[in-house]
Amino acid sequence: MIKEDFKIFLDSAPDAMVIINKNGEIEIANRQTENLFGYDLDELIGEKVEKLVPAEYRDKHIQHRTGFYDDIKTRPMGAGLDLYGARKDGSKFPVEISLSPVKMKDEVFVAAAIRDITERKKTEYALHALNRQLEESNKELESFSYSVSHDLRAPLRHIIGFSNKIMSTQFDKFDDNGKRIMKKITDAGSKLNSLIDELLKFTRIGNTELTRRKVNINNIVNEIITDLSQSETTQSIDWQIETLPEVYADPNQINHVLQNLLYNAVKYSSIRENPVIKVKHEILDDEHVFSVMDNGIGFNNEYKEKLFGMFNRLHNESQFEGTGIGLAIVKRIILKHGGRVWGEGELDKGASFYFTLPKNNV
Ligand SMILES: Nc1ncnc2c1ncn2[C@@H]1O[C@H](COP(=O)(O)OP(=O)(O)O)[C@@H](O)[C@H]1O
Ligand SMILES: [Mg+2]
Repeated sequence: MIKEDFKIFLDSAPDAMVIINKNGEIEIANRQTENLFGYDLDELIGEKVEKLVPAEYRDKHIQHRTGFYDDIKTRPMGAGLDLYGARKDGSKFPVEISLSPVKMKDEVFVAAAIRDITERKKTEYALHALNRQLEESNKELESFSYSVSHDLRAPLRHIIGFSNKIMSTQFDKFDDNGKRIMKKITDAGSKLNSLIDELLKFTRIGNTELTRRKVNINNIVNEIITDLSQSETTQSIDWQIETLPEVYADPNQINHVLQNLLYNAVKYSSIRENPVIKVKHEILDDEHVFSVMDNGIGFNNEYKEKLFGMFNRLHNESQFEGTGIGLAIVKRIILKHGGRVWGEGELDKGASFYFTLPKNNV
């Protein structure tokens, strides 16, 4: 009766199960073993378990099998190795195997649960391929924008140089309309110049490897605020900065992130008489969550995803100047660090920007 129950129990397992004696011979196998390997039970019982292993791995398997008895415990087989099973028809398939010792009477047997992971391997492979493709097109895009920005620079420098020359030597010769147009040309020139600068910054950040170390976020924020406080217009800001932790990150790049977020907070709250800018931190699960909040002009929350796109701006140049690259850089850096970034806004109330950094490694 016990034996019958045991057989029912084994046959109901989702994996192929085989029980092997000290000599490596199959004592018991369940129905899934028949299905998976294409043998009938009577072709397996009493046979060496290597019958189920592809020919090229059999010698190694015998060594490992004998080794298992020297250090007998429950564990996955061949951790970190790609394991394969062999069907009766000679075909090979990837498997995952867990081993456990089974003591029956006075003998120790080994029970192996064998799972076919063909589908999982396929998905993994497809994911890898997709990842490689993505990396490739990212690189292409980077080198494209890098060379374009370099190539644009030279002619632009001429335009700026010559129009400045006209401005300084012949400005008086123009009538009012001519003066206005000349002013527009030089303004547009310097605007284009700063766009190219930012674009280069963006590609440079994409190309540099992260050099992570311990970074004190409090120090970084304080330095940026000290810099910002040199200007008249920032005197009225009420800075509310929580105690911020040390993180494991690239100091330069995290500096970029905080600069962009704090400069934005200053810029978009400059319309207030009493601007308040808060920097907060909390730990959620295995992440640090940082936030920068202001009580400025805010934005329509419907567009909160758009802000992080390259050159995307919700406010126009005449109201607030900018290039629309800052948040794209922020996103890029945070993603490289394995974090997340998002923003929440309410028109005419203010905006909050959040980013996370993994908590490990400190
Ligand atoms: N603190 C903020 N308050 C309101 N809007 C913001 C804030 N920060 C960013 N934005 C919006 O997101 C857009 C993109 O920001 P960013 O990439 O830094 O570009 P830029 O500052 O050059 O305009 C801004 O143009 C603005 O519309
Ligand atoms: Mg900005």
